[in-house]
Amino acid sequence: MLPNALQPNTTDHIPVLAEEVRELLAVERGDTVVDGTFGAGGHAELLAADLRGEGKLIAIDRDPAARTYFERFRRRTGVQSRFLRGEFATVLGQLAANGMKADAILLDLGVSSMQIDQPERGFSYAVDAPLDMRMDPSADTTAADFVNELSERELEIVFRRYGEERFARAIAREIGRRRQRERLERTGQLVDAIKAAIPAPARFGDGHPARRVFQALRIAVNDELGQLDEALPAAIEMLRPGGRLAVISFHSLEDRIVKRYFRDQQRGCVCPPDFPVCACGREPLVRVVTPRAVRPTAQETAHNPRAASARLRVAEKVT
Ligand SMILES: C[S@@+](CC[C@H](N)C(=O)[O-])C[C@H]1O[C@@H](n2cnc3c(N)ncnc32)[C@H](O)[C@@H]1O
Repeated sequence: MLPNALQPNTTDHIPVLAEEVRELLAVERGDTVVDGTFGAGGHAELLAADLRGEGKLIAIDRDPAARTYFERFRRRTGVQSRFLRGEFATVLGQLAANGMKADAILLDLGVSSMQIDQPERGFSYAVDAPLDMRMDPSADTTAADFVNELSERELEIVFRRYGEERFARAIAREIGRRRQRERLERTGQLVDAIKAAIPAPARFGDGHPARRVFQALRIAVNDELGQLDEALPAAIEMLRPGGRLAVISFHSLEDRIVKRYFRDQQRGCVCPPDFPVCACGREPLVRVVTPRAVRPTAQETAHNPRAASARLRVAEKVT
């Protein structure tokens, strides 16, 4: 349990798999901790408590709104800390290039409850709002730009690849038809187009009919998989031997990237399997601490339904 003073406000994002992250990252007094996805700072507060007054925490988030939560975090914990606004792939890359070392790094992927709950951010299909979906409101491209400017074929690929949407083609065509009349600028217009494209029986069951398309657009707008691909090597490079990287993902596309990366880095050697002896000389970089992804308990999902799809994987740097 979090100490009382560190309990998050009830309206904030509830940190997912919090006790598991704490246990597996095993932060000790005096460590350097990097939270690459600070959000409301729920995980950060927990990890800061394990620093027991020494060490430091670096907070990263691309959303400037996270800075307010960081100020609160600093007041409440008093821990030595810095907030770096930017994409975690870029910031971790810069920190690694500058020779900075860490003992524990956390990436809790996706969006926060605060981002979803602010209708004007455009992440939710449940309310009519501008079709935005940028985690960083100063980024160039909104979801509306994607929806209006990608070709129908490109939209279909995005919906299929990032949303695993089986009606991807029909939805892309319906968007194509509708945007000839007017630009689609609102989440409500997109939801209407999706509902019109999906056959009636498929509109019921398996969640909201727009869920997969919204997920796909969010991933594309924020280049979420590209960020993850780039961040993993930078994070591992930053770790001291014995340091740990924990990644919480919320869908299979992300989890697959993490699982493969950790497995490949644990294997080390990249020689073709038919080579009689290793010619590449690459040594294992990590030890996988979680051979299977850690999933939330039924108790946690009952309390926080957003945790239901969460999967946690942890690797430890070996050299
Ligand atoms: C799931 S929330 C993190 C919640 C946090 N662990 C907590 O307990 O409050 C994800 C946060 O990471 C940020 N984020 C997601 N992808 C990012 C990226 N590539 N670079 C920087 N921040 C990112 C989002 O803006 C959001 O605030």
